[in-house]
Amino acid sequence: MRIAVIGSGSVGTGLARSWSALGHSVVIGSRSPESDRVVELVAEIGNGVTAAGLADSVDGADVIVLAVPWSAAEVSTAALGDLSGRVIIDAMNPFVKGFNLGIGHTDSGGERVAEWADGAHVVKALNIVDARLLDGRQLDGREISIPICGDDADAKSVVAGLIGELGFDVIDAGKLEISRLLEPLCLLMIKLSMKKSLGAEIGFRVLRD
Ligand SMILES: NC(=O)c1ccc[n+]([C@@H]2O[C@H](COP(=O)([O-])OP(=O)(O)OC[C@H]3O[C@@H](n4cnc5c(N)ncnc54)[C@H](OP(=O)(O)O)[C@@H]3O)[C@@H](O)[C@H]2O)c1
Repeated sequence: MRIAVIGSGSVGTGLARSWSALGHSVVIGSRSPESDRVVELVAEIGNGVTAAGLADSVDGADVIVLAVPWSAAEVSTAALGDLSGRVIIDAMNPFVKGFNLGIGHTDSGGERVAEWADGAHVVKALNIVDARLLDGRQLDGREISIPICGDDADAKSVVAGLIGELGFDVIDAGKLEISRLLEPLCLLMIKLSMKKSLGAEIGFRVLRD
């Protein structure tokens, strides 16, 4: 599958590394694809990963992942051009002024993305897992659960497959408006990791028979 990962930071790099190692064709969409930093990053990852400008990166992509800071989310989405009919993974959290949710209760970052990317099939996913765990490692002998939500069943199926390949336990949490619950959950994970000093190696898991 051809995957465009928008953002060359922790999440973008982690996903590019893991999916490319599984044989997917990954392009990193960056504001500065020719900068020394991004050129060196792409060379270090290997596996055929390339970098391109934002609009070029999504050309022919089966799936597009948004992995930029919330403050840059709208402008980055607009820079990708017409996204109608495209499958988008929104991995972002709508943080403002540090780790504070700027949207909630009756709206969510995922729903905002769907407004900006008119006609796209947005799936909220991967927002509650620490970027350092995107290699899909198990914790306490179990896969980490990744709840996903979105309004298009086919898009969710594609995204579930890709995330499952990474080694995660994917759970369909429902419609895109469930982002209103998944985004605060990320904040809990961060507070546990940082404030309670549990570190990066903690993950969310739904136990069931
Ligand atoms: N870090 C985590 O563990 C984690 C986990 C789950 C979800 N998330 C969410 O995923 C998103 C990305 O997180 P991250 O940790 O990967 O962020 P990051 O390390 O700061 O990287 C974000 C990337 O976004 C691009 N970008 C575009 N516009 C930008 C701007 N105005 N300022 C800074 N960077 C800009 C940059 O790539 P170019 O310079 O190449 O354009 C940058 O490398 C966030 O919304 C975050 O809440 C993070």
